[in-house]
Amino acid sequence: MELLRTVGAMQAHAESARAEGQTLALVPTLGALHEGHLALVRRALDEADHVTVSVFVNPTQFGPGEDYDAYPRDLEDDRKTLSSLGVDAMFAPSVDEMYPYAANEALPGPLAWVTVEHLDEHLCGAYREGHFRGVTTVVTKLFHACKPDIGVFGKKDAQQYVILKRLVDSLLFDLEIVGVPTVRESDGLAMSSRNDYLDPEEREQATVLYEAVTAAEEAIQGGEQEGQAVVRAMQNALTAAPTAKVQYAEVVDAHTLQPVDQLAPGQEVLAAMAVFFGDTRLIDNAFVEVPRS
Ligand code: PAJ
Repeated sequence: MELLRTVGAMQAHAESARAEGQTLALVPTLGALHEGHLALVRRALDEADHVTVSVFVNPTQFGPGEDYDAYPRDLEDDRKTLSSLGVDAMFAPSVDEMYPYAANEALPGPLAWVTVEHLDEHLCGAYREGHFRGVTTVVTKLFHACKPDIGVFGKKDAQQYVILKRLVDSLLFDLEIVGVPTVRESDGLAMSSRNDYLDPEEREQATVLYEAVTAAEEAIQGGEQEGQAVVRAMQNALTAAPTAKVQYAEVVDAHTLQPVDQLAPGQEVLAAMAVFFGDTRLIDNAFVEVPRS
């Protein structure tokens, strides 16, 4: 596996794989890889001849007071894991490499942003100002650096997945976004690097997230058609954890990400939530198709 640290080296590497007629997949990550990330890598290995995994803790998607500095980083461990899976290239650029204008004293900042409007008005976007602008900007840069035919993303970050699909469609990127179902621990908790922040009691209580997602799925599949009733089913399940502080629990249309009052037969909806356990904020969700009869 090649380790590439600069955009120029990555582009040259991708170009030579393309010149050999290979199809390229990219799996963007923040690193500290766990089984959830590895499911994406395995999917990429199935779908393409050449797989690049990027490891970059992107500063522009972390808000003030969020965990940018504390975010776990272990490049050497990630390198070994990816190499043993048969990944072709690991792209691990510096912040200066990805944001060449950030250090300019006269005009600091990225100067160019990529945004997708409206889809960040609800769910996480309502509470993490600028987060999705940071994600769409860095993912655009990663696409330019790694030149993939396929970008592989997890549905665990459902809003991110929907926004990135819209980005690619709207700006006519010549690539396809592939979504991978959420990988969970045996008790249902969605895998996340942030699970490591939980103390044992919080970890135990965090299983209510999956219970709430399941409650929403069961309510919808059982014929519930009122959005608020589905939200109440989620909230009820979350009350089983006394330390949980719910930031949001919402049911939105899976394409517009706007709240749904009345669920329509055949509609695809997203039941999603963000919950704090102590200082740790966890998310979970499910895409559900409303039954037709
Ligand atoms: P990160 O949180 O490292 O996640 C990288 C990818 O792994 C994302 O597509 C995410 O949805 C997926 N993923 C994480 N946990 C998962 C799980 N339990 N099951 C399935 N997929 C899972 O998401 C980001 O990084 C960043 O925002 C990024 C896209 C890299 C842009 O900086």
